[in-house]
Amino acid sequence: MSIYILGIESSCDDTSAAVICDGCLKSNVIASQKVHEAFGGVVPELASRAHQQNIVPVVSEALRQAGIDKKDLSAIAFTRGPGLLGSLLVGTSFAKGMAIGLNIPLLDVNHLHAHVLSHFIKREESDDVPEFPFLCLLISGGNSQIVMVRSPYDMEIIGKTIDDAAGEAFDKCAKVMGLPYPGGPHIDRLAKEGNPDAYKFSKPHIPGLDYSFSGLKTSFLYTVRDGLKNNPEFIKENLADLAASLQSTIIDILLDKLAKTPQLKEVKHLAIGGGVSANSGVRDAIQKFCDKRKIKAWIPERIFTTDNAAMVAAAGYFKYLSKQYCDLSLPPYSRVMV
Ligand code: KG4
Repeated sequence: MSIYILGIESSCDDTSAAVICDGCLKSNVIASQKVHEAFGGVVPELASRAHQQNIVPVVSEALRQAGIDKKDLSAIAFTRGPGLLGSLLVGTSFAKGMAIGLNIPLLDVNHLHAHVLSHFIKREESDDVPEFPFLCLLISGGNSQIVMVRSPYDMEIIGKTIDDAAGEAFDKCAKVMGLPYPGGPHIDRLAKEGNPDAYKFSKPHIPGLDYSFSGLKTSFLYTVRDGLKNNPEFIKENLADLAASLQSTIIDILLDKLAKTPQLKEVKHLAIGGGVSANSGVRDAIQKFCDKRKIKAWIPERIFTTDNAAMVAAAGYFKYLSKQYCDLSLPPYSRVMV
């Protein structure tokens, strides 16, 4: 009998539901919340309300696109954390209610593990997947981590940001230039037309494998402030060069730590994941980084870089196979619990 897993993701501002059958993706529905654009960032209260409005139609649509009835489901996987608590509560409560109603197991998924395991979302049974152990550079709006992945359940964070995440650096600098939220995709687009060597921004000197992006943000702000003093049209006239220089600095910071990772010698595969892994410059740089070291690069389809339930269902499938079911009394958590 086929194993059908429903995945539910509601950790931030995307309501998503997906169905996988015996490990292969059947549907992945994502309702992105536009309501936050006017505020220049995610408003937690509004996010929870939008999840409440979206969750029923999104789950129904995922089941419809998969061509199954809810009674065909084997288990329900949901994002338990980390994320915005109000948002997580919507997905958690919905998943629990549905699992109780259908009398099927519940599988709790760590959102960051799901990003790493997004490389195990298969379109076809024959699709390749990364070989354990592998390294993953996890770069999103809330996290920048280097993760050593030994198995679907054994992940060690060997480097992480001590302040802002890479995505925040993109978004906050974009805001300084008056670009809409989230700024990352706009910087990506503009960077293609600009000179990456036009401006030099400061890079952190943090020991070990940890990241820091707050200094870059300040350096960027000062460059723009000084430029505007002499020329009120400074941003407009230099938008593409500022974007290209910022993107190239963020990539240098990310790759510099990756190159110093001792575990690089232990792995044959390296993956990237999280929203910032959609960035064209990051994707090209990672491919070159891996080619140079004869390591296989795993670069996710763009749809699986930002928040999606397909990765939650894929992570849940591993748990289902090893019968790691979730107790119905477990609450969501907002901060990382590895
Ligand atoms: O993983 P994600 O969807 O949400 C979190 O869990 O944080 O990542 C969102 C982040 C935002 O900071 C957004 O600006 C960034 O990913 N992002 C990008 C690109 N697409 C999304 N950053 C740079 N270039 C992109 N193309």
